[in-house]
Amino acid sequence: MSNQNQTSSHIGPVPLPPELVHACLERVKDLRLEGFLTGFGRWPGKLMMVGEAPGATEIQNGRPFSGQAGKVLDGYLEALEITRDDLYITSAVRSRPYKDKPVKGSPDRLSRSNRTPTRAEVLAFAPILDREIAVVQPQILITLGNIGLQRLLGEEYTITAWHGQLIRRRIQQVHSEHPEQGYHLSDQEYCIFPMYHPAAVLYNRSLTDIIADDLRQLREQINENLQMRGNQQGP
Ligand code: URA
Repeated sequence: MSNQNQTSSHIGPVPLPPELVHACLERVKDLRLEGFLTGFGRWPGKLMMVGEAPGATEIQNGRPFSGQAGKVLDGYLEALEITRDDLYITSAVRSRPYKDKPVKGSPDRLSRSNRTPTRAEVLAFAPILDREIAVVQPQILITLGNIGLQRLLGEEYTITAWHGQLIRRRIQQVHSEHPEQGYHLSDQEYCIFPMYHPAAVLYNRSLTDIIADDLRQLREQINENLQMRGNQQGP
């Protein structure tokens, strides 16, 4: 997949207006979130992955999916016969949600761990994801786990019910300056392909075969419907 015409697209973070980022970070400044990480990859491009939120490793080295889940994600990409340069990777929340717990035996010390982002945190970062989708204009949006799926399609969608299927729908968006007003549906329809989050298999090995099947379905969709080779801007 590497011999693509590189002239019409870029590899890196989608440029975000500083005031958009500043407003998002202001909204979450009192929440248990740390750092800020942009998405990374090809834009405009045909494929985009939407995860949950960066973890400690990602915040430390500034690259999405660079920790343990990232190794599993690289296996997904290998099964799809693509590389990180072929797609854009981002997540619903762009800071690390954390929780602090007293260390057993030394209650005056705290240990920090990742946690699932809340609904309010996902909404606060929604203008950034909206902007990334508008710039990338993906032909398939691959959501990773429930958080990415529900951010785009609503909470009635669950990964257990919808994984491995291509869904064509309008997606949830927010007013860029007033996300607190809540979601409305986009004018445009998008193709969404829900996948289990790569971290899920680290906790539940029985998902291995299901994920392999979903990846086969997705690879077929990519090969049949997207001309990944050649100009990424093409139809
Ligand atoms: N999980 C995500 O959703 N994103 C990352 O970058 C890492 C783990």
